[in-house]
Amino acid sequence: MQMTWSHAVLYVRDMHNMLDFYERALGFKVTDRGPLAEGAPEIVFLSQAPDEHHQLAMIQTRKDEAPSNSVNHFAFRVAAFEDVRQLHNVLAPMEGIKVAPLSHGNTLSIYFNDPEGNGLEVFWDTPWHVAQPQGKPWDVGMDEAQALAWVQESFGGEDTFEPREKYYARRGASAG
Ligand SMILES: [Fe+2]
Repeated sequence: MQMTWSHAVLYVRDMHNMLDFYERALGFKVTDRGPLAEGAPEIVFLSQAPDEHHQLAMIQTRKDEAPSNSVNHFAFRVAAFEDVRQLHNVLAPMEGIKVAPLSHGNTLSIYFNDPEGNGLEVFWDTPWHVAQPQGKPWDVGMDEAQALAWVQESFGGEDTFEPREKYYARRGASAG
């Protein structure tokens, strides 16, 4: 058996505000919605994967005012370096949203919060693997070539730094 990640379901306080953020800032589409049962709260399903009914869902039943705190973050992969930079530029001016660019060597990531304090990461894979956990802030003003050169410079001295294909081939082999 192999389990592949499909979705997470969030309890939210303000569905309208959360949908606005996930749709407008992050590009999710509502794929379905309806009450969980007669008279029960509504669940709203969101996706931006063509082959996934929902990657996220939200149920408006949260009462506490404190930021959500059981999950550290959810992460989404993007296909292009530019996607990370563009999203950074969308999020950076938004009130109440704090964006932190962080590279794990194997990614160029931005970390941010949604309006209810859930942690989110959006990342682009670099061509390399390097042992985790580790992270260094990176300058989102760099273009792709500069960012890749910076990753190589910043993480390339480590023993575990290697092409990602090599690393995953080994992982696949040992998983049998
Ligand atoms: Fe992460």
